[in-house]
Amino acid sequence: MTRVDGKAPAGLAVTITPMRRRHLPAVLDIEAKVYPRPWSARLFEDELSRSGRVYVVARVGPTVVGYSGLLMIADDGHIATIAVDPDWQRQGIATRLLAEVIRGAIGLGANQLTLEVRMSNAGAQELYRRLGFAPGGARKAYYADNREDALVMWAHGVSTPEYAARLKDVLAGVPGATSFEPAPDSDVANRPSHPALRGSGEEPS
Ligand SMILES: CC(C)(COP(=O)(O)OP(=O)(O)OC[C@H]1O[C@@H](n2cnc3c(N)ncnc32)[C@H](O)[C@@H]1OP(=O)(O)O)[C@@H](O)C(=O)NCCC(=O)NCCS
Repeated sequence: MTRVDGKAPAGLAVTITPMRRRHLPAVLDIEAKVYPRPWSARLFEDELSRSGRVYVVARVGPTVVGYSGLLMIADDGHIATIAVDPDWQRQGIATRLLAEVIRGAIGLGANQLTLEVRMSNAGAQELYRRLGFAPGGARKAYYADNREDALVMWAHGVSTPEYAARLKDVLAGVPGATSFEPAPDSDVANRPSHPALRGSGEEPS
């Protein structure tokens, strides 16, 4: 385990690790709490078995408190999902998850990142804005449950040193300690690969 922020832990101590099958029961519990149409175990398993994906979980001690996933299409990294257990929100957990997913995407060659977010989800939009995303369009009636429109957001130039510095600054502003297992390379912009892609979701028990 490697502490990367160099600070004394004033807030939560959070560990970010690649998502494994053993995490899925906890992931599905959170999924059911926060999404009207939760993903199935099979969908997560399918995602974990594919290349060009970065899926991570956040743990506090042994407890899975959040997760996020991304898929690559050409050199675009698409944030596919992010959720934090309602009991653990507003403690920088989503910020830490996104930082790691973004590092993974950069390692897979992403030059820009994109996502869809509900027009009504102002909190998530602010989270993304802090990480350099800006509105870039809309998709009408994108969400099947209530036919709500999606706001499409983009972050450009994510493989640049400027963006790496922004990511570092945002993480430095999160109270508490963040550990990454395995530890990221020191140069995030040149990270060659991502541990979430190793072993296609197979894990030691
Ligand atoms: C959106 C979500 C992932 C945020 O998780 P989180 O761990 O609470 O987020 P963070 O603590 O890292 O928030 C970082 C910043 O984003 C903004 N933010 C996050 N949630 C917010 C909310 N509910 N209201 C207003 N601002 C919010 C704030 O600026 C926050 O910083 P602050 O707490 O210092 O003010 C979480 O609320 C969630 O799981 N929601 C349900 C699922 C969902 O909407 N996912 C996004 C789909 S696109």
